[in-house]
Amino acid sequence: MTDIMGKVGMINGPVIRGEEMLGFKMREMVLVGEKKLLGEVISIEEGNGIIQVYEETEGLKKGEAIYSTGKPLSLKLGPGILQNIFDGIERPLKKMNDEFGNFIPEGIGLISLDEEKLWSIDILIHVGDLVKEGQVFAIVEETSLITHKIMVPIGVSGKVVQVKENGMYSIEEELAIVEDENGSRFPLKMYQEWPVRIPRPVKERLPIGRLLVTGQRVLDMFFPIAKGGTAAIPGGFGTGKTMTQHQLAKWSDADIIVYIGCGERGNEMTEVLEDFPKLIDPKTNKPIMERTVLIANTSNMPVAAREASIYTGITIAEYFRDMGYHVAIMADSTSRWAEALREISGRLEEMPAEEGYPAYLPTKLAEFYERAGYVSTLNEKEGSVTIIGAVSPAGGDFSEPVTENTKRFVNVFLALDRELAYSRHYPAINWLTSYSGYLETLRNFYEGELKEDIVGLRGKMLKLLFEENKLKDLILLVGEDVLPDEQRLVLEISKVIKIGFLQQNAFHKEDTFVPLKKQLEMIKTIDHLYERCLACIKKGIAISQVREPNLFEDVIKMKYTIPNDNLEGIEILNNNIDDYYDSLEEKYSK
Ligand SMILES: Nc1ncnc2c1ncn2[C@@H]1O[C@H](COP(=O)(O)OP(=O)(O)OP(=O)(O)O)[C@@H](O)[C@H]1O
Ligand SMILES: [Mg+2]
Repeated sequence: MTDIMGKVGMINGPVIRGEEMLGFKMREMVLVGEKKLLGEVISIEEGNGIIQVYEETEGLKKGEAIYSTGKPLSLKLGPGILQNIFDGIERPLKKMNDEFGNFIPEGIGLISLDEEKLWSIDILIHVGDLVKEGQVFAIVEETSLITHKIMVPIGVSGKVVQVKENGMYSIEEELAIVEDENGSRFPLKMYQEWPVRIPRPVKERLPIGRLLVTGQRVLDMFFPIAKGGTAAIPGGFGTGKTMTQHQLAKWSDADIIVYIGCGERGNEMTEVLEDFPKLIDPKTNKPIMERTVLIANTSNMPVAAREASIYTGITIAEYFRDMGYHVAIMADSTSRWAEALREISGRLEEMPAEEGYPAYLPTKLAEFYERAGYVSTLNEKEGSVTIIGAVSPAGGDFSEPVTENTKRFVNVFLALDRELAYSRHYPAINWLTSYSGYLETLRNFYEGELKEDIVGLRGKMLKLLFEENKLKDLILLVGEDVLPDEQRLVLEISKVIKIGFLQQNAFHKEDTFVPLKKQLEMIKTIDHLYERCLACIKKGIAISQVREPNLFEDVIKMKYTIPNDNLEGIEILNNNIDDYYDSLEEKYSK
C-alpha cells in the first residue's frame, strides 16, 4: 500500500466512483473502504476514478477511503498453483473455506499461494553467474508429475552475488540476489508477480503443427485441435459443453490443464471439484489433479471477479508454458464472462452495442484467444497454450454476438447440436457445421505418427455423411426403397460412421478415451467395410446381401469389444469382412 488515498463516491454494485483520487494510475489495484475490498482502477481522469471491485460491496459507504497499492492487478506465480482451486483473482478457495467456512468474508486481501509450505529446492546457479530474464534458476518437484521451473522474473538480469544452498524453503525466501549493471540488487524468490492483463513475453511464436491428442474420435480424427490452437464449443442448454470440456481436461495430452469454471451454476463446479480429485491419468497412473489447476467463479460469486477469472487462467497458463510445458485451458463458459463484461459496462453507462454487450466485446475476445500459441520461450524451450472456450448462446442460437464474434477468432468450431443431444448422440458435435482449420497444418503430424493419410480418410468419411444428409430429404419424399443400392449403401455406412465411430460414451470405461492407434484402425475398418460393400454392389449384388447384419453390428460394436491396449480383434474383424465378401463375390461370379 502507498500513502495515496481517495474517497468513495457513488456505489453501483461492483462499480464504484472514486473522488479525490489524485496520483492513482489506470489499471492499478486498489483497496476500497474500511474492509479493504480489492478493486482495480478502470478509468481515471484527474481526481475522478472508476473502480471495479472484486468483492461484494454491500455495506460500503460513501466517503470511505480508497487506498492505492501502486501495482496493477497481479498474480503470484510459483509453486503451489497446481492441485489448487482458486477464485477469479487467485485466492485459494479451499484454504478460505477451511478458515472462514462457506461464507468468504470481504477484505481478506490478495492471499494466493501458501506462504508457509516448505518446498525442496534445487538451485541451478552460482555466485558470479550471469542470469537473464526467463532463465530457469531453480527447480522443485511441485507434484510427482510436474517439475516447477523457477524462472528469473521478466525485466531482471545481471550477476548472481548471493545464492542459497539447496534446501527446504518457503516461497518468500530470497534464494539468490542478482546485481545489474547499475549496481541495483534484486532478490530472486520462488515466485514472481505478473499483471494478469498483459501477455507474458516469449522469444518467438512458432508455427503450429502438433495435435492435441484428446482421445475423442470426433476431435482427433474429424475436427482436430492443434497444440497452441484455439477452439470454441458453442451449444444450447444441456447439449454437452461442460461434459466435452471435462473430457478434454481429463484426457488430452497437455502437460498442464487450467480449468476455469466461469459463471456457471455452482453445482456444475461442485461436480468438477468432486470428480477431478478422484481421476487417475491413464498414461501416468497418477491423480489428474497433479497437473491441474481449477479456477472457480460460479454464478453466485462477484461478477467483477468473473471478468478477471479468464485473465487469471490465461496468465497461469502462460507461466507454465514459459517453463516449456504444453498447457490447455478450458473456459466454461465464455458467455458468462461476456455477460460479466456487459453488466459492468451497463453500470458504467457505456453506449451498448449488439444485445447490450459493450462495443469492445470483439476486441476482448480477440485479445483472449490471441494469448494462445505455440512458442519458443525466453529460455528457448518449446511450449504452448491451447484455448478451448465453451459458448452458451441462449436458445442455441448461434447468430448472437458472443458466438458470432468468437467464431471470428478461433480456428476450431465444435458446434453442439440440440437434435443430436436429444437423440443421445454424444458428443453432440454436428459434423455438418463444425470445422477445424488445422487439418492441413497437422498433415505431417498424422503421417509421422500414424503413417496414414488421415486427412484423406476423414475427407472420404465426411463426404459420405454429407451425401447421407442430402439423401435424407429425398427419402422423406420418396422413401428409402426406391434409391439405387449404391446410395442405400451410403446410408448404411453413414450409420456405421455415426454410431460406431462418432458417438463416444464418456461413461464407458473403454470408450471414454481412445488412443490414436485404435481410432485409426477403427476408421480404416469402416473404410474397408465400405470398399468391400461398394465393390460387391458394383458387381450387381443386392444391398440386402451386401449388408450382412452381424458383420455391420460387429463393426459398430468394435469401440466396446476391442480393448484399447490390444487391437488383435480388429485384425480378426477385418479378416471376417474379407471372408464374407470373398465368398459372396465368389458365389455371385458362379
Ligand atoms: N460425451 C458424452 N457421453 C455421454 N453423455 C453425455 C456426453 N456429453 C453429454 N452427455 C450427457 O448430456 C448431459 C448434459 O451435458 P452438459 O452438462 O455437459 O451440457 P451443457 O451444455 O454444459 O449444459 P448447460 O447448458 O446446462 O451448461 C450430461 O449430463 C450427460 O448425461
Ligand atoms: Mg455446462
